Amino acid sequence: AQVDKAGHKHFMSKEIAEQPTVIGEAVRHYLAQDGTSIELPDTDLDFTKIERLTMVACGTAFYACLTAKYWFEQLAGIPVEVDIASEFRYREPPITKGTVALFVSQSGETADTLAALRYCEGKADKILSVVNVAESSIARESDVAFPILAGTEIGVASTKAFTCQLTVLLMLALKAANDRGALDADAIADALSKLRGLPSVLNTAMEAEQGLADASRKLAEARDILFLGRGLMYPLALEGALKLKEISYIHAEAYASGELKHGPIALIDKHVPVVVMAPKDGLFDKSISNMQEVMARGGKVLLITDKEGAVEASEGAWETVVLPQVDPILAPILYALPAQLLAYHTAIAKGTDVDQPRNLAKSVTVE
Ligand code: G6P
Repeated sequence: AQVDKAGHKHFMSKEIAEQPTVIGEAVRHYLAQDGTSIELPDTDLDFTKIERLTMVACGTAFYACLTAKYWFEQLAGIPVEVDIASEFRYREPPITKGTVALFVSQSGETADTLAALRYCEGKADKILSVVNVAESSIARESDVAFPILAGTEIGVASTKAFTCQLTVLLMLALKAANDRGALDADAIADALSKLRGLPSVLNTAMEAEQGLADASRKLAEARDILFLGRGLMYPLALEGALKLKEISYIHAEAYASGELKHGPIALIDKHVPVVVMAPKDGLFDKSISNMQEVMARGGKVLLITDKEGAVEASEGAWETVVLPQVDPILAPILYALPAQLLAYHTAIAKGTDVDQPRNLAKSVTVE
């Protein structure tokens, strides 16, 4: 069916706004009838047998994999390796016994990701994929394909596919944690009830859009922008920088906050805005101390945090954007929203072609 902009100026803003709905659908799809456990498609996939998970993807899907690494390791205790498909396929990595390979792709047709999948055929115990296009090559060539149900994504810069990838990957990690005995049924039920509540949290978070749009007009004047985050916020910082580069053409880079002192701090001056993503989680104090190192060197900080975080740390920040409080495990899905909105409004302020950025293709099916 023909997809239109449904009253939005761009497909990208329509797709950003759709996220509460499509994430809700993805959650429901993998929820068992009882609503307190996860049900996967009928497969002989046995999470207790996995000794190593190798995740491979490109672009935004790669950042979804990086985020999921924290979930599979911390929740389920599975060692995870994440790689960019174009590197993985030519490195000829050894695939050891007990390895399950997982490919993440919106289109399911990215040439490098498909080639990486084919490299794993006959070597990995199982080939899994997390895809948006259910009838794609990657889906067809996997032992099990998990749909993300984001619906057609038209904007070249991926938005709703990213958050739906995160949602499905988190549910897979929770299922793995449950089957491996790393989390009990109550903990799973609790996480699932929070996941079910996520669409309404995302709707509330949309109230931050005006503040993000105001901040974006200032970002639009910058030549370079840094994004910082720790733990689960590190891949989100990478995604925020990628989104910004893709559609506003401003040079943006992301670093793990703790890595700042090993080089990028040399870049800090009053002309380089620094976006800090820091929900009030276990790593908050460390993130804030890194942020203060930036401010002490004249850096202008845009702090994205929650209410508690803002009370504690917004003093001296250039701008603070406040999001709803969520369980730290779910924070990546929520913090994707400001990352997308900052890029979107910065691009609008610069007057670039948001849906069709120069030099980029929605799906790269050649090498
Ligand atoms: C292209 C798109 C990106 C996307 C990447 C991977 O570069 O412009 O937005 O993240 O391909 O695409 P896939 O369809 O495999 O997720």
